[in-house]
Amino acid sequence: MSRDALVFYSAVDDSVAWREALAAELPDLDFRVEPDLGDPADIRYALCWTPPKGFFARFPNLQLVTNLGAGVDALVRRDDLAPVKFSRLSDPGMVQMMTSYIVFAVTRYARDIPVYERAKRRGEWEYVHPRALSDITVAVLGLGELGGPAARTLAQMGFTVSGWSRTPKDIPGVTSHTGREGLEHVLATNEIIVSLVPLTLETQRLLGAGEFGLMRKGVKFVNASRGAVVDEAALIEALASGHIGEATLDVFETEPLPAGHPLWAFENVMITPHMASITVPKLAARDVAESIRRVRQGLPPLHEVDPARGY
Ligand code: NAP
Ligand code: GLV
Repeated sequence: MSRDALVFYSAVDDSVAWREALAAELPDLDFRVEPDLGDPADIRYALCWTPPKGFFARFPNLQLVTNLGAGVDALVRRDDLAPVKFSRLSDPGMVQMMTSYIVFAVTRYARDIPVYERAKRRGEWEYVHPRALSDITVAVLGLGELGGPAARTLAQMGFTVSGWSRTPKDIPGVTSHTGREGLEHVLATNEIIVSLVPLTLETQRLLGAGEFGLMRKGVKFVNASRGAVVDEAALIEALASGHIGEATLDVFETEPLPAGHPLWAFENVMITPHMASITVPKLAARDVAESIRRVRQGLPPLHEVDPARGY
């Protein structure tokens, strides 16, 4: 066996697809999955999605950890991981998939589809006069690899779009806001709010009772980033009071969302099982392989993550 091996870990059983996709790019790479890890000292690279506590402690020669997705919150601030090079995935397939989810969720609200879904269940013909998309205001919180293209696409479709990020952005058709003042402004002035901010120490419970209170009554809320960006108890309260009119939630503090959780009971909440975007091995393997080649040459990997920043 080679002494230049990669360990793969994912709760989703996609190791066969990844093994094949990486073999096409890097035929010399020794791809290992539990329980067949061989000598842990051979492991130089890890390609992982939410590995359990202590997972990395047994690999003394690890040089590169690649997160099998965009959000690295499960891989930062771990006590089993020495400082190594650290990267995430970012491929066009993942961007297209997230954009399609956000366009779906926003368009569903913009075109009053939940009204018709409910009317259909009652067997009633209910007409709501459609509004011009330019009259519909949408805020995207987080304008990174996924939030940026989603905001740009919504603007191209004709929505009036604002964005919020740590640093200012120049995205055609998207008004850029930053800082606490910018956040409060976009929360107060938009009728659809989309969360695509990563979960970090700074964004944990970013949206709580105070922030929901700033939003317009009847606001539509879409969360496709991480559940813990939201104070879930405050979200439930805002839904129960009607302050939040509708929500589309793909992510939760606890996943899978437990049976009997209060969020299941709201008719005006669409729940999807953390599927807004995934990485397709065939599309993402090229970048994973390129990062390994770079690290072998002593260069930084593609899509490098700053663990101190948390994203
Ligand atoms: P990204 O490229 O790292 O971009 C993050 C964006 O958030 C950047 O615009 C960043 O601002 C902004 N941001 C970070 N911290 C902030 C803060 N404290 N205040 C204001 N803005 C802040 O992330 P991405 O690839 O777009 O992905 C976003 C998140 O989506 C991921 O972290 C993950 O949690 C989630 N996700 C979910 C799914 C799903 O299936 N539901 C799939 C993929 C990803 P700057 O640009 O100024 O740095
Ligand atoms: C999925 O949630 C990801 O972060 O890629």
